[in-house]
Amino acid sequence: MKVNYDELKDLMAQKLTNAGLKPAHAETVADVLAHADARGIHSHGAMRVEYYAERIAKGGVTIDPKFTFTKTGTGTAVLDADNGVGHVAAKEAMEQAIEIARENGTAVVGIRRMGHSGALSYYVQQAAEAGMVGISMCQSDPMVVPFGGAEPYFGTNPIAFGAPGKADDKIIIDMATSIQAWGKILHARSKNESIPDTWAVDKDGIPTTDPFKVNALLPIAGPKGYGLMMMIDILSGVLLGLPFGKHVSSMYHDLTAGRELGQLHIVIDPGAFTSTDLFRESISSMMKELNEVKPAPGFDQVLYPGQDALMKEQESMKNGIEIVDDILEYLRSDVIHNNQYDHKDPFAK
Ligand code: NAI
Repeated sequence: MKVNYDELKDLMAQKLTNAGLKPAHAETVADVLAHADARGIHSHGAMRVEYYAERIAKGGVTIDPKFTFTKTGTGTAVLDADNGVGHVAAKEAMEQAIEIARENGTAVVGIRRMGHSGALSYYVQQAAEAGMVGISMCQSDPMVVPFGGAEPYFGTNPIAFGAPGKADDKIIIDMATSIQAWGKILHARSKNESIPDTWAVDKDGIPTTDPFKVNALLPIAGPKGYGLMMMIDILSGVLLGLPFGKHVSSMYHDLTAGRELGQLHIVIDPGAFTSTDLFRESISSMMKELNEVKPAPGFDQVLYPGQDALMKEQESMKNGIEIVDDILEYLRSDVIHNNQYDHKDPFAK
């Protein structure tokens, strides 16, 4: 069913507040989730609310966290988020990173001991809207085999990049470093459909087309994606003194304890390297030139990276956001959660 952005956001904020989150924090989480749904990233939108509500209700998120922001150098800082809700920590850290980059030219801000922060596009969009280049990356729970491996080691460790063009133009690319999100396997299971053999492996590390046999996901681009997901884990985990690789906490293992996750924001003021006007003009020219590239058979037009999500967002703002009926029903109900996520084995049938 279609629902408009504000209504969706209010429903989600209310549910999270009812679960025990501070209204101001619930508002921010709801904004990040609605942003994802509007862009068609439903795996990181309203479908997460019930899981978050269960975690909040069971104490696995610090309700009134003490954020400690420490400047560790002229362009570096660390935010210890006290296992508060990840979306709020990541948003605040990006605001600080933008301020540091304004003064310093660049900023590298780590966030340690945070909860899950959802779709990273939200945070790099903050940077692009402030006229800055933004990069954000984070750890996630182990689900992906290392290249050549038969058991998971790294998470789907996402990375996002945002850059401003002329006026309101901006490029935003946001991707997991696994070929597919776990949500796509669950979707195939729910429809009893097979999956391409490039997505995932079974318990012996053999590529499988049966979504019920999946025991781990595959990295993007073989050894190259494997290397990239390691880099992300090093920069957003090891660099911040946090658990890494297979030691990163599982999303569902224990909903009564904080997740201790890490994320890293890098912000660059283009003016520290070139003329800001030239940079922004060039970004807009690149976007335009990519759209003008001759399309291959089967394609109507070449999109610049992330343009699909931007087009979806524009359509959602005009005509409403499509939300699965069951999720909307839950959001509109009095139920806080149905106790279905705690200690869930993500690979279980
Ligand atoms: P995806 O595979 O749907 O898209 C990846 C990127 O490619 C996006 O920027 C998309 O706009 C772009 N793209 C897709 N088709 C395109 C086309 N035809 N032309 C141009 N660009 C195109 O995204 P994925 O990898 O499934 O990630 C989904 C979300 O999950 C992201 O928001 C990511 O941040 C989030 N995530 C968050 C995690 C966390 O722990 N916080 C863990 C893993 C993912």
